[in-house]
Parts: sequence; structure tokens; C-alpha cells
Amino acid sequence: MIRLSVNLNKVALIRNSRGANYPDLIQVATDCERFGAQGITIHPRPDQRHARYDDVAALKEVVTTELNIEGYPSEKFLEVVLAHPPHQVTLVPDAPGQLTSDHGWDTVNRRDELRRIIDPLKAAGIRTSIFVDPSPEILEGAVATGTDRIEFYTGPFAHQYPQNPQAAVEKFTKASQMAMDLGLGINAGHDLNLDNLTFFAANMPGLQEVSIGHALVSDALYFGLANVIQMYLRCLHNAVSLRG
Ligand code: PXP
Repeated sequence: MIRLSVNLNKVALIRNSRGANYPDLIQVATDCERFGAQGITIHPRPDQRHARYDDVAALKEVVTTELNIEGYPSEKFLEVVLAHPPHQVTLVPDAPGQLTSDHGWDTVNRRDELRRIIDPLKAAGIRTSIFVDPSPEILEGAVATGTDRIEFYTGPFAHQYPQNPQAAVEKFTKASQMAMDLGLGINAGHDLNLDNLTFFAANMPGLQEVSIGHALVSDALYFGLANVIQMYLRCLHNAVSLRG
């Protein structure tokens, strides 16, 4: 099984645009779970334009599947996740003000820094994951940080997929096999959608979880949240069948 974690940042963005509590992020999270999502993700950024730091505590109260908090490990971010430990923290090397995540960690040059951040998270019982590009040196560096999992940044795959699916996925398939051999757990995310998800997941040995936000919330405008979650789950189910 490959878990679907629904990233609710875009729901938070709509809420924040009017300054009140509609849509109610907490209600949407519990509804996503009711509709079949196997996890909820938020990514509070320093300017809190999407999810806010105070959403972490509120979600922690209600999420019964898996709560994944993504973000740059600023002092504030670490204070919040240690005060309200989620099931998983995904560390992302975003600069403040970045539009969206667009690269993984340099695990070779930032190995010691990552290790210093990861150790206390693991000591608090939180599973750790770090956002990475699919390269052998980066995966070797990731092992040395002590992280439990990696999350592959799938933006470049999604970008190339319409022109050449096989070429787009090749590096990811190899990296996934290598991550498995190194004993790293494997997540993936960014720009995955109903068109590319089945093919991607079918070509990723060992893939355990995807986190999907932008496309899923956009698709919900047409199909509704309950239908869309089932549609994404079906892609993952089909991918597992194709993987054999
Ligand atoms: N993973 C990470 C680290 C992200 O920053 C994001 C976007 O917030 C996602 C996954 C989900 O990407 P998308 O919104 O394109 O599905």
C-alpha cells in the first residue's frame, strides 16, 4: 500500500484570504480522513500565508491517521513540532518567502547541521523525512544524517512527464531502488496529479507515501473532495497492482 497524505496548504490559503475561519481547516482535515485519506500534511512557511503554526496543535488534536508537518527547520518551526509532536516531520530547505519548494537538501555539505536537527526530533518520537533530489551522493548523505525517510522532490518528473514519461521517471526509479538498499523509507511529492501519479508510483519500488496538495485541491473544484480522494487512492491502488 502507498499512503495518500493530503496537503491542506491551499485550503489554508483560501481561509486566510478572508481573515475568518472558512473553510475550517480542521473540519476539512477530518473530512479528508473520512473520505479515505491516510494522512494529512501541512507546510507552515515563515510568512504563514498558507498553514499557520497554530494549525499544528489543532490538527494534532483531531488527526487519527498520520499527521505530517513539513517545513524549513527554523527555531519557530522546531519549537512548534517539538511542543506538539506529529507522526512525521519532513524537513525542507526552503528560503523564507519561497513560492513553493523547488529543490532538495544538500545532504553532503549540510549533513552535520541536519543531524543536529534530526536527533532531537527522533528523540521526541517523531519520524523524520528530508526532502531530496534523486541522486546517489545525496542519498548516501541522507543516510549519514540519521533520517528515517527521504521525500523525493518530484517537480522535475512532473515537468518532463508529458513529453517523455520513461525518461522522466528513470532517475527516480534508480534512486528509489538505492534508497531501499540503504534502508531509507521513501516518500515523494510535488506536482503529482491524476495524470502522472499512477505511472510515477508504479515505477517507484518501495514508495510508502505521497503528499499531494495543489492538484488535488484544484481537482476538488470540479469533482468534489470525496470523489477526488477516491480518484487519487485508485491511482495508487492501480500503481501497486502494476508494480506486482
Ligand atoms: N512536498 C513538499 C516538501 C512540499 O513543499 C509540497 C508543497 O507544499 C508538496 C510535497 C506538495 O506539492 P503539491 O502541492 O504540488 O502537490
